Amino acid sequence: MSKTLKRYSDSDRMNHWFIAIMFFLSALSGLAFFHPSLYFLTNLFGGGTWARILHPFLGVLMFLGFILMFFRVVKDNMFKRGDKEWRKQSGRMLRGEINPDLPVGKYNYGQKMIFWLMTLSLLALVITGVLFWRPWFAPNFSVEVLRAASLIHAISAWVLLLSVFVHIYAAIWVKGTMRAMTQGTVTEEWAKTHHPLWYKETTGKN
Ligand code: HEM
Repeated sequence: MSKTLKRYSDSDRMNHWFIAIMFFLSALSGLAFFHPSLYFLTNLFGGGTWARILHPFLGVLMFLGFILMFFRVVKDNMFKRGDKEWRKQSGRMLRGEINPDLPVGKYNYGQKMIFWLMTLSLLALVITGVLFWRPWFAPNFSVEVLRAASLIHAISAWVLLLSVFVHIYAAIWVKGTMRAMTQGTVTEEWAKTHHPLWYKETTGKN
């Protein structure tokens, strides 16, 4: 059996799953108001009134959870020179080829892009969302500002939804990744194959 390496602490994982739960709840309650055909989703929250009341609170909770996570992982999501190499070979990797010689640290270029898309879309969502949060903040702004805010809110929501879908797909697709967030550990083999620089850094081995 392959030896394992610690990738996330218990508190990292609780933080992550809290965000994921808040994401699904705010996405479902938000989509309910996106189009009349999705209004039935309000039933999950006790009807239209409750979905409308809960949605902004769920969004803010997701954002607060993400701020914590942001500071835990931002250092490893900074772009590095070696990321160019990963980007160039991403087409081949999508076709299933694995190249363990790429200079990949704790996160690869694709994960970093998703991380920054999540960060930017969440920031836009929380700023625009608070701005048109009735009855508290919306009365302070003109109708033009409120319209622009709701358009940006909807676009950012779709960017976040698509980013999270890609994030989940990649977590399932790259075998051995899910256990990082469920058990907190990964196999040495997985680390060596997908994140060789991180493997070297954590074990001191090549
Ligand atoms: C069912 C939903 C989700 C699943 C299955 C999932 C799975 C995972 C897994 C397996 C990892 C570890 C990846 C690694 O260490 O290489 C991870 C990391 C991470 N996840 Fe999720 N995730 C989900 C939802 C979310 C959501 C909703 C967000 C934020 C809005 C999020 C943000 C992150 C972040 C920031 C990391 C740290 C790694 C990075 O910066 O790329 N996840 N997730």
